[in-house]
Amino acid sequence: MSPRRFGPSTTAIHGLPHRRPDWAPVAPAIQQSSTFVSPVGSDEDILYSRYGNNPTQLLVAKKYALLEGAEDAMFLSSGMGATALAHLAVLRPGDHLITSSWIYGGTQQLFDQELGRFGIDITYVQPDRPRIWRRSVRKSTRAIFVETPTNPLMRVVDLAPVAHVAREFGLALLVDATFASPINFRPLEHGADVAITSATKYLNGHSDVIAGAVAGSASFVEEVTRLMRLWGQAIDPHAAWLVDRGMRTLALRMARHNANGAAVAEWAAEHPAIARVHYPGLPSHPDHEHAKAVLDGFGGMVGLELAGGPKAAERMLKRIKLVTHAPSLAGVETLVSEPRLTSHRGVSAEDRAALGIPDGFLRLSCGIEDADDIIADLSQALG
Ligand SMILES: Cc1ncc(COP(=O)(O)O)c(C=O)c1O
Repeated sequence: MSPRRFGPSTTAIHGLPHRRPDWAPVAPAIQQSSTFVSPVGSDEDILYSRYGNNPTQLLVAKKYALLEGAEDAMFLSSGMGATALAHLAVLRPGDHLITSSWIYGGTQQLFDQELGRFGIDITYVQPDRPRIWRRSVRKSTRAIFVETPTNPLMRVVDLAPVAHVAREFGLALLVDATFASPINFRPLEHGADVAITSATKYLNGHSDVIAGAVAGSASFVEEVTRLMRLWGQAIDPHAAWLVDRGMRTLALRMARHNANGAAVAEWAAEHPAIARVHYPGLPSHPDHEHAKAVLDGFGGMVGLELAGGPKAAERMLKRIKLVTHAPSLAGVETLVSEPRLTSHRGVSAEDRAALGIPDGFLRLSCGIEDADDIIADLSQALG
């Protein structure tokens, strides 16, 4: 009989459940130590927190790997650290990367400003044209990068044609699914080789940690770990412990984020001062049917375009009380920000307009407060 698979709520709390020894702490002990006693004369790998082999770092990585359905995982000191090392692990000078153009602005800057310095060529493609992936492959192509759901339009990219091309040409498919968390979407189940997440967001969920993670095959994670030891992006043990603590309520929080996102999106869709709502759970969203098929929840992120444009957006941001004007997202508290000044700050106004992110676009991260209270606050701010 094969061992019983545990559900995501159980996994997010326990990792692989096991009977605890008598007097063991129920909450995992934090190993807040940079270094550990070495046996004299031992030639085994030393225990050193920059190496990512501190027990607190290993515990949270194991749990994330289980949630993604991956062989292994590693936490890094930020989501950007995770994206950077994941790409450095699969690309070499002279290689070519195909990337979706619907990505977080920081990732785009990393590709444009840094990967080029390593002699890596980048091609941006619009991911709603399935044939574009095959047409963009060159002899030197080694990897494809996709973000889904996307920041901030919540587009849900169809990974099937991408995974098909990746398999056919032997390319690594890397997917940043930060906006879903492994509760709502697990890229490896859809043909990706690597899942990337900014653990700053839903995994931690309390707006008090910067962290990132990658999950994939044991050999991929070994290469990321090798790079991490040299480039120095290991997660601090305290941050790892906080992420682990956050993950224990991940499934429950996601259920509430999903419910509150839907409630706010439905309210916004009916509001006369709101011209357009971007939420994959709404039938009006261009990817609604696909999102229904592949997501286990539509998430808490909602894009809003006000009828009054940037002036109306500014007025609303000055009047909110419960909802907080701050960048970042996916915490227990509802946050709102303007992509033009945050996630897409480095992107030109023309490029932002071409992406469908006009000035005045508001990105709302619905927290887990009472939905009625979030809606009442937004209503009074619009009124
Ligand atoms: C989709 C996505 N990926 C990666 C990142 C980078 O994460 P971090 O801020 O933890 O470095 C962000 C940050 O907003 C993001 O939205």
